[in-house]
Amino acid sequence: MFKIEHLSNHKEHIETISKWMAKEWGASDDIRFFKSILNHSLSKTNLPQTFVALDGEKPIGTIGLWRCDMVSRQDLFPWLSALYVIPAYRNKGIGKQLQSHLLSYAKSIGYEDIYLYTDLENYYEQIGWEFVDTGITYSGEYDKIYKKSLVE
Ligand SMILES: CC(C)(COP(=O)(O)OP(=O)(O)OC[C@H]1O[C@@H](n2cnc3c(N)ncnc32)[C@H](O)[C@@H]1OP(=O)(O)O)[C@@H](O)C(=O)NCCC(=O)NCCS
Repeated sequence: MFKIEHLSNHKEHIETISKWMAKEWGASDDIRFFKSILNHSLSKTNLPQTFVALDGEKPIGTIGLWRCDMVSRQDLFPWLSALYVIPAYRNKGIGKQLQSHLLSYAKSIGYEDIYLYTDLENYYEQIGWEFVDTGITYSGEYDKIYKKSLVE
């Protein structure tokens, strides 16, 4: 059994989560960029926000609600970002539950739509995300943009 909590209640895990993010999305093992994102996502009343999945006290996954993820598409807002589950805990539904938690939270604070971008195939489609466009990243690659409505 695991739980999902706001990162502001678990600042002791910022270092660990920064390392996950740098390894997954960074150009090197330099964690400063990701640590800054996390250190500035601790407000519970404003974006960005970060959540952490915990097995007991052990951090096993994370997800963020960001103002912007794909900078070339700042017309879209907000973004589900930085979804990560540690390898030993994958394929147990934790990624989907982190998403579900974030979608409920985004809806509860009044957003009607939410976006993400990804190069994954057939993952987000599984829980109803709709492909809406391709968009260009800083590195010049094109990735898929998905949208989910938060209202009936
Ligand atoms: C992608 C990720 C978050 C999935 O987390 P997870 O907890 O393993 O996923 P869930 O258990 O909720 O979902 C499992 C299902 O998704 C599928 N799935 C898992 N990883 C996938 C991937 N990389 N691409 C496509 N499908 C994937 C599984 O096949 C499984 O399908 P099934 O239910 O039909 O058997 C996790 O693999 C991860 O952290 N990857 C590295 C970071 C990453 O790519 N993040 C997404 C950035 S856009």
